[in-house]
Amino acid sequence: MKPVSALLLLVVYTQAAKFPPNFKKCNRKEPDLDKCLKEAAQIGLTQSVKYYPQIGLPSFNPLEVSELKIAPGSQSVVNVEQNFKNCKFYGINEAKIDEFKFDFEGKSTHGRGVIPEIKMLCEYEVNGKILLLAVVGSGPSTIILKNVNVTVHFDYEEVPKNGKTYVHFTTNKVTLDPDFVSFNFENLFNGDKQLGDGINKVLNENYREVYADVKSGYEEGLGLVVQQIINNMFSKVSMEEALD
Ligand SMILES: *[C@@H]1O[C@H](CO)[C@@H](O)[C@H](O)[C@H]1NC(C)=O
Repeated sequence: MKPVSALLLLVVYTQAAKFPPNFKKCNRKEPDLDKCLKEAAQIGLTQSVKYYPQIGLPSFNPLEVSELKIAPGSQSVVNVEQNFKNCKFYGINEAKIDEFKFDFEGKSTHGRGVIPEIKMLCEYEVNGKILLLAVVGSGPSTIILKNVNVTVHFDYEEVPKNGKTYVHFTTNKVTLDPDFVSFNFENLFNGDKQLGDGINKVLNENYREVYADVKSGYEEGLGLVVQQIINNMFSKVSMEEALD
């Protein structure tokens, strides 16, 4: 099994598509392409509170992820696999994009920005040890990341189809650096309130240590989610349609 996996239910339309008129288009040859791409990405994100089935773009507020599995941390702080289901992510659409660029030669894209708050509501299942304490349970969970510095890097390959060029993103590297994290796992230990409250308190009091251990799992998880979304979109929108 892969250490991290994510599953989204995305509607797949087979016909080619154009960006809706409220999206911004850039010209590959314009002198300030990076600035235009940054604006286009920002506008796209702002528009994405709506669902755009014609270009395969789901709503980003909330962004729904049916399944997200995060591997145990590597430093034995969080010695538990976190299985999340029916997740709703709020706040990604509020990202302020500071940089977004395509490297057409190197076939990669790179972005950087800040998200004021990511709120992740899911149904969780855990069974393992956190900070050496046995933790078991399932129920609703809320995880909040505040003031998150985000970088994304995607490599892509070009896929020619029907005389057009489509891009397929092959690998991703995402970093998420929040300045504050809070956890709330409801119904731990089959609803034993005292034990459950105790674990949540320990998690929150030690959020830096806890997050440091699960950080790469969360980054890989969100990276996969974003990769699936943009692949879904760019399997419909060719480079010729995305850029003038
Ligand atoms: C986010 O980036 C800003 C600007 O580079 C920096 O001042 C801040 O410390 C960073 N925050 C975190 C949590 O890394």
